[in-house]
Amino acid sequence: MKILGIETSCDETGIAIYDNKNLLICNEIYSQIIIHKNFGGPVPELSSRDHIQKLIPLLLKILKLYSIKIYEIKAIAYTSGPGLSGALMIGASFAKSLGYKLKIPTININHIEGHIFSSFINNKKPTFPFISLIISGGHTMLIKVKKIGIYDIIGETLDDSVGETIDKIAKLLKLEYPGGAKIEQLAKKNINNNYQFPKPLIKIKNLNFSFSGLKTYIKNIINKTQLTKNNVENIAYSLQETIIDTLLIKCFNAIEFTKINTLSIAGGVSINKKLKIKFIKLIKNNKVKIFFPKKNLCTDNGGMISFVGYQKFIRNKIENTNNINIHTKLKI
Ligand code: KG4
Ligand code: ZN
Repeated sequence: MKILGIETSCDETGIAIYDNKNLLICNEIYSQIIIHKNFGGPVPELSSRDHIQKLIPLLLKILKLYSIKIYEIKAIAYTSGPGLSGALMIGASFAKSLGYKLKIPTININHIEGHIFSSFINNKKPTFPFISLIISGGHTMLIKVKKIGIYDIIGETLDDSVGETIDKIAKLLKLEYPGGAKIEQLAKKNINNNYQFPKPLIKIKNLNFSFSGLKTYIKNIINKTQLTKNNVENIAYSLQETIIDTLLIKCFNAIEFTKINTLSIAGGVSINKKLKIKFIKLIKNNKVKIFFPKKNLCTDNGGMISFVGYQKFIRNKIENTNNINIHTKLKI
């Protein structure tokens, strides 16, 4: 049974097919970075226009490449939010029209729910309950996942997300959007680090995050500093370390508070190798199991949407309306 997954919440067009026998058969992602980078971030109108251009060619490409006939698809899962409203509308309208034509159901999927289960696509079964740390451009959250569809948000950012913080500081350092990969690359080159940044909210015994103060702290340093190659590498290194250590402390707290010993980390920032190494070294032990998504499932993709779509389909959680419902705010 094949489920098509469509992701258009921001600046990636994702099309994927999940199959109950062969698991994730294909996961094609078209990144719009080239379109947005001159503006320093995603431009909603350009994003919508590009999703329109890419959806049909991407679908035709995977059908041809993997020799799949369109009528083999049994349901269409699409991201209904949160995200940019125009971009979500494009994906939702496409999914609904195709579903109508093929006479198959559509399933609306929350983007965060997609990220939550991205660590468990292709065989690794989640043991419920588990804690999910979502670190992306749009969100930073700790979620207690009781089972598919039942979530408690136990911590979240009070202001900027981790990815947003990294991207904004990268912009101040005159690096290209999105800054995450570039910051990671520059952090590796650091030789003698001389910056110590404060780790936000670590002394407060709750699970919330706050990154806007860190951003302002670093911004003030950047304004007073001549940006040499060495300084930029040092700032990149210290930023990365500060963020990883802050996330680690909050995850330790979450494990202690909830007594849940399975942790999954997902979202665009979870692709960061140093973060993965530090988490595995400091958290993973006999008692705590830790899961990360595969590299191509960390940033936005249709694979995670098709996988959660399949889980909902077998539980009969399909849409029973022809209306198009999108939501731009987080609503799990
Ligand atoms: O999940 P995602 O693709 O989009 C949202 O749902 O927001 O996450 C994108 C975020 C961006 O902020 C980007 O800078 C960050 O993931 N990112 C990274 C790395 N690669 C991408 N952050 C740290 N290290 C990386 N290597
Ligand atoms: Zn995302």
